[in-house]
Amino acid sequence: MTYDIKSMAVIGVGIMGSGIAQIAAQSGHTTYLYDTKAGAAEQAKDKLAATFQKLVDKNKITTEQAAAANKNLVVAHQLEDLKDCDLIVEAIIERLDIKQSLMQQLEAVVSEHTILASNTSSLSITAIAANCNRPERVAGFHFFNPVPLMKVVEVIQGLKTDPAIIKALIELSRAFGHRPVVAKDTPGFIINHAGRAYGTEALKILNENVCDISEIDRILRDGVGFRMGPFELMDLTGLDVSHPVMESIYHQYYEEARYKPNPLTKQMLEAKQLGRKVKQGFYNYATGEKTGEQPAKFVERLAQYPRVWVAADFLDDKKQLEDYLTQQNIDIDTNPEPQTDSLCLLACYGEDTTQAAIRLRVNPEQAIAIDMLYGIAKHRTLMPSLVTKTEYRQAAHSIFNLDGGMVSMINESIGFVAQRVLAMVINLGCDIAQQNIATVDDINAAVRLGLGYPFGPIEWGDQVGSQKILLILNRITALTHDPRYRPSPWLQRRVALHLPLTFTYES
Ligand SMILES: NC(=O)c1ccc[n+]([C@@H]2O[C@H](COP(=O)([O-])OP(=O)(O)OC[C@H]3O[C@@H](n4cnc5c(N)ncnc54)[C@H](O)[C@@H]3O)[C@@H](O)[C@H]2O)c1
Repeated sequence: MTYDIKSMAVIGVGIMGSGIAQIAAQSGHTTYLYDTKAGAAEQAKDKLAATFQKLVDKNKITTEQAAAANKNLVVAHQLEDLKDCDLIVEAIIERLDIKQSLMQQLEAVVSEHTILASNTSSLSITAIAANCNRPERVAGFHFFNPVPLMKVVEVIQGLKTDPAIIKALIELSRAFGHRPVVAKDTPGFIINHAGRAYGTEALKILNENVCDISEIDRILRDGVGFRMGPFELMDLTGLDVSHPVMESIYHQYYEEARYKPNPLTKQMLEAKQLGRKVKQGFYNYATGEKTGEQPAKFVERLAQYPRVWVAADFLDDKKQLEDYLTQQNIDIDTNPEPQTDSLCLLACYGEDTTQAAIRLRVNPEQAIAIDMLYGIAKHRTLMPSLVTKTEYRQAAHSIFNLDGGMVSMINESIGFVAQRVLAMVINLGCDIAQQNIATVDDINAAVRLGLGYPFGPIEWGDQVGSQKILLILNRITALTHDPRYRPSPWLQRRVALHLPLTFTYES
């Protein structure tokens, strides 16, 4: 069957349904609005008219375009009014039984050619279609809030969905000005699945008392380049939204360790400490602004510095560190073994300082590890061992403040903060590719556009070095025995063959 979508309907015109109707109407599609709540469809139409007027006032669209968009919106009073639509998108309450029954009701009304799509975030498309006479006509069409601004949409292929429908929805997404990404019907699809690493690993790091939330946010925001730290982000989203997603994906994947949530967010949810919307989350928002972020500590220039002995897992890190030390006029201990009074700087991956010192046969009292995954970025993370002497802690902190850069001094963590979080993000992206949930291109685009990360996870792995990511994961797995960190076969094979992570075999 071929599908040509000219007219469509949105059922459930709440936050998501209204947004979908807006882009549909603006892109020239006759769009019916239907809602079981009395007056809701009329209200949505009025609100959208006001939105179009605002866009005219801001010179984003012309008066003619606004008039055309308004004309495209039609209020429907009963499901029968939708009988001639080419596509019906439901954005009603997130309940499987209600969505299933709506699909059955629709099948009794619409024509053979009508596509039935669901905007569900967490339910299976295959399950929503299960009671239909023609489950092959049902697909997922998953938008993000706010729909007009979040320019990505997941097109979900249920177990029985007709591939021609996927093709039609891809074309429609493009007509909307959105980037379609095609995903297999799996828990969290691409974006909510790929988003599981950032918050959960940050929570685990907090749980291990590696450092406080301000420090974790700073390392990932200022050091790595995420738009927001994980705790700022959870405060913005609200734990009433993000905690259930964490739990749902974890359980839907039968308690897969990679997605394991944290008891802390459950507790905060119970205490109604949800985030910005209630003025209290990880930070406080009583004044309307975020408060409670602890400032980074700065150590002034010291009268004297010890010599510094450098060891690194990768030669380029050693060179970068020695160049930096030379620029700051710090003496380098070039002996093969460190002198007994040298500060030992260890650029290690996937270890804590204790493990690295033992492996490198260095006295842990002299040792400080540094995270070089991002080179000497404007924000550096240093990690003393449990027994590193205060004089070396102070000296190292000051040395990395000398050029005005900021320093996070963290407690011991197997794999620092940035290494752990980034390795988890990249590994999860690789695993989504390994499970063939989506193509590499679609995974990267979905994460960039849907999660706002600076890079897609798979391209990011190539950028920071897949060999480093694999080393981090292998060492953490060996030291913790936690299956959460086991490297994806996708990553292992490509590193072994010296191929980019984006490589796929095409016959
Ligand atoms: N809010 C988000 O950020 C977001 C993002 C992506 C997907 N979703 C999904 O979109 C759907 C809608 O979410 P929302 O946030 O827009 O909800 P909402 O509460 O803002 O809107 C739901 C609308 O559906 C109507 N409705 C409920 N049951 C109905 C039925 N049986 N028939 C017709 N109308 C009915 C309600 O009256 C309401 O107007 C859910 O499946 C949700 O999982 C939400």
